Amino acid sequence: MELLILGGTRFLGRHLAEQALARGHEVTLLHRGHSGPQLFPQAEHLISDRNLGLQVLEGRRWDAAIDTSAYLPRQVRSAAARLAGKVGIYQLVSSISAYASLTEAGTAEDAALATLADPTVETINGETYGGLKALCEAEALLAFGEQHCCIVRPGLLVGPFDPTGRWTWWVQRLMQGGEVLAPGHPGAPVQFIDVRDAAGWMLDQAERGTVGAFNLTGPAQALTLGEFLGTAQAVLNPAAQLHWVDEDFVLGANVAPWSDLPVWLPQASQALHQVDIRRALAAGLVCRPLAQTLHDTAEWAGLPDTTADTADGASTAGPARPAVGLPPEREAALLSAWRARAGGQA
Ligand SMILES: NC(=O)c1ccc[n+]([C@@H]2O[C@H](COP(=O)([O-])OP(=O)(O)OC[C@H]3O[C@@H](n4cnc5c(N)ncnc54)[C@H](OP(=O)(O)O)[C@@H]3O)[C@@H](O)[C@H]2O)c1
Repeated sequence: MELLILGGTRFLGRHLAEQALARGHEVTLLHRGHSGPQLFPQAEHLISDRNLGLQVLEGRRWDAAIDTSAYLPRQVRSAAARLAGKVGIYQLVSSISAYASLTEAGTAEDAALATLADPTVETINGETYGGLKALCEAEALLAFGEQHCCIVRPGLLVGPFDPTGRWTWWVQRLMQGGEVLAPGHPGAPVQFIDVRDAAGWMLDQAERGTVGAFNLTGPAQALTLGEFLGTAQAVLNPAAQLHWVDEDFVLGANVAPWSDLPVWLPQASQALHQVDIRRALAAGLVCRPLAQTLHDTAEWAGLPDTTADTADGASTAGPARPAVGLPPEREAALLSAWRARAGGQA
């Protein structure tokens, strides 16, 4: 298949490009040449800022286009102006954040989407990201038509080359060892998907010409926070000790869920970790064992702290270590305060 990726050199797109090339597809990547400029010499690279115009797409045709880099509806509109009628399938990477509400477990693809008070907003933040993705979806359906559109709504993507550092923080924390603060309840649900499984599934759908909307997260069988952290401990560092600390205590200490302690969500928000993935499973989604994702992420996270790729284009860049996760001294102070409180109550 001839495949265009709008993006393709950072995380999800990078894995899409790698797997598409390995499958023997003819791959074109459109990007500015900022992220991973040395990657994939065997692909065609169209260097262009999609915000400034997409003349480079003029007169071209592809079997499928996968858009990983659309965050604003005007970006989908300008891509569609060049690509509608020229691609068999347009696959848009949206997000489960596009839903209006994630307060009930089991959100399926037909649930209402988010709306924005000001649909012309261009600031992308926690308040607007989901509503803007919903507008991107609407633009895509309008311009390409339902028969040519596949809307993919990923949950938390994890694994090698994750630039957010969220899930990777737990990997690194367990590897570091010692006393690890485990927040809330071990039975709390968690969902995430190995980015390589997401990429493989997306390519399967592009090859088949699948249309429609799909939640895309994992694992196939329900997973709990306790199982996630327990497996991470077993795989990465059995000597690490997990100490479960009540949700109320953690929240009372102003620890921010998701950022101070990545992946973790308080009970009131746990529906975000319980979206319905039956449609993706029915379309062939297979999630690799958690231990494999942990192992591979640990191997990548152990690489030197740099976002730059090597001169020969080898994909050895380590994580950028963004500011997520509890600093060690704060974690230690919280654990001793928790113990003092628990001791006082005994
Ligand atoms: N991470 C998660 O957990 C998660 C969850 C749900 C949904 N998502 C969605 O998944 C997608 C993942 O994106 P990714 O970063 O992993 O994809 P990616 O395709 O690996 O990286 C982003 C690409 O877009 C290119 N790009 C950025 N701005 C551009 C511009 N103005 N013009 C042209 N190219 C541009 C970048 O290259 P240059 O910088 O060189 O231009 C890079 O190749 C996003 O749409 C995100 O909203 C992610």
